[in-house]
Amino acid sequence: MSSSTAPTRHTAITSWSSVLPEHVVTNQDLEKVLDTSDEWIVERTGIRERRMGSTTSELATKAAQKCLSRAKLTGESIDALIVCTITPDQMFPAVATEVANAIGFTGPTFDLNAACSGFVYGLSVANGLIATNFDRVLLIGAETMSKAVDQTDRRTAILFGDGASAVLLQVSPNDVGLLGFDAGTDGSARGLLFQNHGEKLQMDGKEVFRRAVRATVESANTAIQKAKVKTEDISLFIPHQANLRIIEAVVERLGVPMENTVVTVEKTGNTSAASVPLALAEAADAGRIKDGDLLLVSGFGAGMSWASAVWKWGQ
Ligand code: ACO
Repeated sequence: MSSSTAPTRHTAITSWSSVLPEHVVTNQDLEKVLDTSDEWIVERTGIRERRMGSTTSELATKAAQKCLSRAKLTGESIDALIVCTITPDQMFPAVATEVANAIGFTGPTFDLNAACSGFVYGLSVANGLIATNFDRVLLIGAETMSKAVDQTDRRTAILFGDGASAVLLQVSPNDVGLLGFDAGTDGSARGLLFQNHGEKLQMDGKEVFRRAVRATVESANTAIQKAKVKTEDISLFIPHQANLRIIEAVVERLGVPMENTVVTVEKTGNTSAASVPLALAEAADAGRIKDGDLLLVSGFGAGMSWASAVWKWGQ
């Protein structure tokens, strides 16, 4: 960590990783155990398969190790570690403490629970830490949603999957990083999507759908405004991957072309806080992001919570 206080400290995303459990559960697999069909699932959600298995800590640890190794760094060289999750293995301590132990990190670490908006909230928190003289923050989204849902409930079992992804945020001398951010919560809608202790996830899918579209569009437009850019300037839109129909409705209302939108939901299902970083990592690995590009990332989820960020890519 540096000790000087520079007037402006920009943040770059300098490494990233994806980790998906090996076990693939296709819609055809679900047809065998649930009163559902591939056709229904694809038509209503766009999801064709999802991954299941492992624990949140294991997935988060692998994501951390891959991300650090890609950057040729060790756990000792970071200054803070955040795990965004709503599916921790234990009530406490935080998943982040297990990751910290595995990578040999002894600095500040905590979990962030903002449901599917978690990673986008995390980007802003990590950016804030870097502004206050942290040099490197490892930000992870990790979930085992397959354990949160009742696998015999066709209304929810088809939607979710497991996975993890990490990004390394680092102070940069260049004019890159967070340009605009918006986040919010409507706590009066907490009952639309929740999981009580010892029980499985409950959801009012139709109402969540309606609110997800509205909240994402409003939040994305606010972040764009705050960034003082125009929608046409956005190079790539990386929305939360819950449902292809939600993404299509958002894209239409926002005015971002579908070809400039990252869609991974067909292969992963909804991985909650891991969804946005997994989509970001896939786009980065596919060479879809270049220096100077403006990314729009958006999440929404239980709470109801929402968050959007405009991020200028570059090292
Ligand atoms: N297979 C076959 N039929 C089904 C299934 C299924 N898997 N699930 C429900 N149905 C039936 C229903 O029972 C209903 O039958 P009925 O008409 O005889 O009563 C019919 O299909 C229609 O059900 P709806 O719930 O009205 O279907 P809808 O078009 O709303 O789609 C869905 C449901 C896919 C859940 C949709 O509402 C949705 O995607 N909502 C958003 C959910 C979401 O993204 N949640 C995550 C938020 S992020 C986070 O924080 C975790």
